[in-house]
Amino acid sequence: MDPLGTALALCTALLLAQPTHGESLRLARPTRVHFVAEIAHHLLRWEPGHNPPSNVLYEVEHKVYGTNQSWTAIPNCMRISGHSCDLTYYTLDSAFRYYARVRAVSGNHTSLWQRTNSFFPQEASLRLSGQSLSVMGNTIHVQLQLLLRTGNLTVKYDDIQKHARRYLVYIRRAQDNRTYEVIETSPEFNISNLFWATEYCVSVEPRVASRHTGATRTGEQCVTIGQRDRGDELVLGAISSSFITLLLLGLLGALLVCMYIKRPMRPPSVLKSFIKQSSFWVEPEPSSSSSPDADPVQQLFLCQKEPHENSPGTFLTLQRPFSIQPL
Ligand SMILES: *[C@@H]1O[C@H](CO)[C@@H](O)[C@H](O)[C@H]1NC(C)=O
Ligand SMILES: *[C@@H]1O[C@H](CO)[C@@H](O)[C@H](O)[C@H]1NC(C)=O
Ligand SMILES: *[C@@H]1O[C@H](CO)[C@@H](O)[C@H](O)[C@H]1NC(C)=O
Ligand SMILES: *[C@@H]1O[C@H](CO)[C@@H](O)[C@H](O)[C@H]1NC(C)=O
Ligand SMILES: *[C@@H]1O[C@H](CO)[C@@H](O)[C@H](O)[C@H]1NC(C)=O
Repeated sequence: MDPLGTALALCTALLLAQPTHGESLRLARPTRVHFVAEIAHHLLRWEPGHNPPSNVLYEVEHKVYGTNQSWTAIPNCMRISGHSCDLTYYTLDSAFRYYARVRAVSGNHTSLWQRTNSFFPQEASLRLSGQSLSVMGNTIHVQLQLLLRTGNLTVKYDDIQKHARRYLVYIRRAQDNRTYEVIETSPEFNISNLFWATEYCVSVEPRVASRHTGATRTGEQCVTIGQRDRGDELVLGAISSSFITLLLLGLLGALLVCMYIKRPMRPPSVLKSFIKQSSFWVEPEPSSSSSPDADPVQQLFLCQKEPHENSPGTFLTLQRPFSIQPL
């Protein structure tokens, strides 16, 4: 076959855009060969060339830019009939950029190769595996899942998007669909001060602050904030009410002590010796009616003592310690 004839036939085919019947003509190469990529899922897609034969198949090769590795066939994508090929496994390293190319095959005829533009893994549209939510009081604790599984590989989101990671968080109130948006920088965060007894649905869209990249929102997940008088509130309530009780008991105790010390009373043994030495105190007879150890409320307390026969003038006396009994 002479080259002039081939060129002529090609020109005719192009000009008339008509199906050619000669076996001698090359197959048309595939068109629109491009990556459709989300993080850790890099799919190569194409469309058939003009007027493909019914038995057309495709072959895919890839190349890593900047290495001296030449075009390498993708074993899973040799003589396939589909119009896509998963190149994730061959294009994961975000330090490189990649090319892929596809050609049509029919019998023992092959088309020319059709190549992609260069592909960077960082250009892949952003996605996360999801999030897990837990409720603490009226706070939702969110933990983003950054591990992406693809085939037999596990990829960490932050290994691919190393810088300027942001998470746009959508918080939808289920009852009226009112949606709040917040931006977080950490994969673990709290959404606080939510309404009690309310259902919220959360989804997250990853972002990169430095550039516009397509992104997919995670699936929505819903949780319900409980009633106010449950959980943490209950504990808080218990703490504050017992604090108030203690305060009241303390005041009551102080009052009782102040009233008691108008009567002579047996001081604790530690104080007894001290008081004896200072000869301010005349030991009274032990009272059979009230034992000091059985007193429910005992506390170290300073109280102004009333003027007494044995103790001239007004002075401060250290009274029996009294401790708070468990309620
Ligand atoms: C790749 O580089 C190595 C080392 O420089 C060299 O030996 C080898 O021939 C190169 N291969 C190709 C395909 O250029
Ligand atoms: C194409 O393949 C057939 C067998 O499948 C063979 O007989 C024929 O010679 C081949 N043609 C060319 C041009 O290689
Ligand atoms: C993972 O899958 C790729 C092909 O997708 C294969 O070449 C590789 O050997 C597999 N690795 C393991 C550890 O199974
Ligand atoms: C909220 O949105 C859902 C679907 O988007 C709709 O079915 C539902 O009626 C909406 N509820 C309210 C209260 O607007
Ligand atoms: C979320 O709140 C809990 C409890 O209030 C706290 O222990 C945790 O440190 C908070 N986490 C973050 C990321 O702020």
